[in-house]
Amino acid sequence: MKSEMRVNVLVAVAALLMSVMTGYAVSEGRSESLAAPESFDAIGDTAARSVALFTELGKVLTHPRCVNCHPAGDRPRQGEQGRPHQPPVARGADGHGLAAMRCNSCHQDANFEPGRMPGHPAWHLAPREMAWEGKSLGEICAQIKDRERNGGRSLEDLVHHMSADTLVGWAWAPGFGRQSAPGTQKAAGALVEAWVKTGAACPK
Ligand code: HEC
Ligand code: HEC
Repeated sequence: MKSEMRVNVLVAVAALLMSVMTGYAVSEGRSESLAAPESFDAIGDTAARSVALFTELGKVLTHPRCVNCHPAGDRPRQGEQGRPHQPPVARGADGHGLAAMRCNSCHQDANFEPGRMPGHPAWHLAPREMAWEGKSLGEICAQIKDRERNGGRSLEDLVHHMSADTLVGWAWAPGFGRQSAPGTQKAAGALVEAWVKTGAACPK
């Protein structure tokens, strides 16, 4: 009787583990790769090469892991389809939420797997002028270079932000079941750097 129960429990645990493991495998399998800057060397025209580099980077910039936090309105988005954040929350004056519902009352310093909660110490919404949702890659490119709309950053600052900022980095370790941003943060940083070195040209 006792041993029978133990077997049942073991079977249940094994089934649970299997479903968790396949879930991970599926979500990891879906993440795209990112081409290295060198793979664009064959493009002789510098401006055209720069545009090609930014277009490749666009796979990251338009990915839901980034866009969900760079939404057009005041409400963050969730999931692969970018559905409106549940429960409803709003950016508030500082991007950290309204007084009654601050982001960090739910989002902790790190991902919390049992609750499927993404986390980071600085978890908050990108300011309105940095919205990427619904914009063309050309529009995102122009605004990302514009100091009036990019938080006063130089192109060098942008390279640094993209390759080293840990909130950006969350997108490559987003936690349970979420698809990671394409490639790696390092690979994305290398593309931004190469784009800047080739004159930071924008797609149309
Ligand atoms: C009442 C709790 C709560 C509050 C407050 C809250 N969130 Fe969330 N948030 C969640 C939960 C739960 C999820 C995970 C939902 C899921 O993926 O199924 C989530 C997911 C997200 C995601 C989705 C990540 C992705 O790519 O899928 C973003 C972005 C986000 N929250 C931003 C914010 C911001 C910004 C604030 C503050 C303005 C905030 N949240 C406030 C509970 C909350
Ligand atoms: C949890 C929310 C969150 C996520 C996820 C997120 N960002 Fe941001 N992002 C912000 C906030 C907040 C700022 C403003 C920070 C500042 O100016 O100091 C910002 C600013 C930026 C900026 C600089 C300003 C500009 O031109 O938009 C870049 C570049 C950027 N993010 C890139 C990314 C990329 C690339 C990803 C995905 C790989 C990403 N972010 C994911 C919240 C987020």
